[in-house]
Amino acid sequence: MSSTTPDTFKGWVANNATSPLTFTTFHPKPFTETDIEVAISHCGICGTDIHTLRSGWGPADYPCVVGHEIIGTVTRIGSEVPTLASSPASREIRIGDRVGIGAQSMSCLKADCSECADGQENYCPRLTGTYNSRYADKSKAYGGFAMRWRGPAHFAFKIPGSLPSAEAAPLLCGGVTVFAPLRKYGAGPGKSVGIVGIGGLGHLGILFARALGCDRVVGISRTSSKRKDAIEGLGADAFIATDEEKKWGRMHSRSLDLIICTVDAPDMPLSQYLRLLKVDGTFVQVGAPEKPLPQLTAFSLIQKGVKVTGSNIGSPEDIRLMLQLAAEKRVLPWIQKRPMEDVNAALADMDAGKARYRYVLVNETEKQAKL
Ligand SMILES: NC(=O)c1ccc[n+]([C@@H]2O[C@H](COP(=O)([O-])OP(=O)(O)OC[C@H]3O[C@@H](n4cnc5c(N)ncnc54)[C@H](OP(=O)(O)O)[C@@H]3O)[C@@H](O)[C@H]2O)c1
Ligand SMILES: [Zn+2]
Ligand SMILES: [Zn+2]
Repeated sequence: MSSTTPDTFKGWVANNATSPLTFTTFHPKPFTETDIEVAISHCGICGTDIHTLRSGWGPADYPCVVGHEIIGTVTRIGSEVPTLASSPASREIRIGDRVGIGAQSMSCLKADCSECADGQENYCPRLTGTYNSRYADKSKAYGGFAMRWRGPAHFAFKIPGSLPSAEAAPLLCGGVTVFAPLRKYGAGPGKSVGIVGIGGLGHLGILFARALGCDRVVGISRTSSKRKDAIEGLGADAFIATDEEKKWGRMHSRSLDLIICTVDAPDMPLSQYLRLLKVDGTFVQVGAPEKPLPQLTAFSLIQKGVKVTGSNIGSPEDIRLMLQLAAEKRVLPWIQKRPMEDVNAALADMDAGKARYRYVLVNETEKQAKL
């Protein structure tokens, strides 16, 4: 069933926080019989890649291969995958299938782990990220800015036939990170939802809030430069430009049931965002700034009984439901394809806020065949 491949892969490796990535070899985890291998065709660039590469959340575990919005073709399957106890869906993975891998590559999957047993692998205390992380055997996890990926079949997902690979890539992290809290906090008919920060995650937040049938979706951005895209393109009903509109917190107060905040900088007007919530409303932080969030006065919480919470990527179930909804409702991210060779330039453009709204790195098929 499984053909063997060399134990060195090639990819775009970071050795420190400042040098450009270099195309070189690295050693993936040892292959186990519950793993698969994938020839990577596409990988999105997520804000997390930037935080990690510059050690923004703390020192990264270099050498590091980032990228966790991976799409590729299965080239090798471990002998235990067809009977995998932990994931009936992963048993269906075959050589030649198109699969996606997101920001998580493993969790403990133990029966006595309440999170794993409950299908909340994304909150397992022994979670393994797709990069900058270690498996239980202490081997390093390497991500998708590479020619190949190797890892547990439990965290690989078959991609519905109707989703093109380049558009499917950002769904694996960006898509599920906004879909999971929208689902959990009841976004749908009768609900007004605000999406703060219109970047990779945020534009997907507007698309998924629409696809879930929310009554009203409001794009909240710093300036009006993304207004046209948000309203005419992504389907938002309204738009707030927080750096330009006067007294926007008061003007739009008590108008939203749920806010998903994708902002990745600490200097956000948090207490003003909370003013937008109705009584009992929920604010979900998914963006992960490198410095603490702004201070709040107790009255921001007390006056309307609002809830402030956060959300980490999504569970395997969230990912499957999200892919199904994306296929049914044609939720397609707005992407710009970049050759994988241009990864350093693409990272610089992403960091400068130029993506509209997600860069997807594409591996050349010919090069792929040789490696
Ligand atoms: N929770 C999770 O599981 C999870 C998963 C994936 C990513 N993330 C995190 O989510 C964040 C966003 O990722 P992304 O890929 O969407 O990045 P992105 O494409 O760069 O989008 C971030 C957006 O934040 C807004 N923003 C930036 N600086 C701001 C400021 N000072 N004040 C207010 N808004 C500001 C911008 O929107 P406007 O131009 O519209 O203002 C920008 O487009 C990152 O921190 C990433 O690490 C978290
Ligand atoms: Zn991500
Ligand atoms: Zn667990």
